[in-house]
Amino acid sequence: MLSAWLVLLSSFFIWQMTETQLIYKLNKMECQVNQSRVTNVSCHVKAINWNMAVVNMDCFMIVPLIKPVIRIQVFMKDYSNQYKPFLVDVTVKICDVIERRNFIPYGVITWKLFKRFTNVNHSCPFSGQLTARDGYLETNLLPPFPQGLYLISLIVMDTNSTNRDYVGTMKFFLQAMEQIRSRKKPRS
Ligand SMILES: *[C@@H]1O[C@H](CO)[C@@H](O)[C@H](O)[C@H]1NC(C)=O
Ligand SMILES: *[C@@H]1O[C@H](CO)[C@@H](O)[C@H](O)[C@H]1NC(C)=O
Ligand SMILES: *[C@@H]1O[C@H](CO)[C@@H](O)[C@H](O)[C@H]1NC(C)=O
Ligand SMILES: *[C@@H]1O[C@H](CO)[C@@H](O)[C@H](O)[C@H]1NC(C)=O
Repeated sequence: MLSAWLVLLSSFFIWQMTETQLIYKLNKMECQVNQSRVTNVSCHVKAINWNMAVVNMDCFMIVPLIKPVIRIQVFMKDYSNQYKPFLVDVTVKICDVIERRNFIPYGVITWKLFKRFTNVNHSCPFSGQLTARDGYLETNLLPPFPQGLYLISLIVMDTNSTNRDYVGTMKFFLQAMEQIRSRKKPRS
């Protein structure tokens, strides 16, 4: 009898686990740039449905990016409505990731997203018109963050042997949440 209950109970938990799927939904984004290096900037988030929104971005690089370095930071909104640092704060030499000389995880994730959704899909340097179309964050690219509101910030700098210049910042505001289903399945 007890074991029958355990089977029932555990099948209920399995049902729960398969029914709730975590997703990362983009709510908005902001871009700031060094205007002596980048012009014609536009960045937008477009909602597709309750669970999904996509990023479209355009900008023109007046000064080519030779050896860009990206600082990737994650912040989580706390109960006092402030974004606090959350686990991730890494600085990535993206050319090294592209040329497979570095396999730093968040750098590899960033490169996967660039390759899939942007024309920044080749080795350094990057110049001229840069665009991103219909970009989104697949759930399986990230570890399962606790549900809540997050800010992912990418600060881009360009470096040479003597200098490190600020190029721009992209801020993605997103929500880790359970997928919203249009139809509830009966709990038969
Ligand atoms: C920037 O946009 C303006 C207006 O759309 C256009 O006339 C100009 O050629 C663009 N400049 C660059 C560098 O793309
Ligand atoms: C890079 O992206 C451009 C524009 O989306 C595409 O035409 C090109 O084939 C891509 N190149 C590679 C190497 O994936
Ligand atoms: C490094 O960049 C700075 C500013 O962009 C430039 O003035 C300098 O000539 C560059 N140095 C080298 C060695 O390329
Ligand atoms: C913006 O870019 C210019 C040209 O490369 C550079 O001289 C300047 O230092 C940059 N601004 C910052 C805040 O790094």
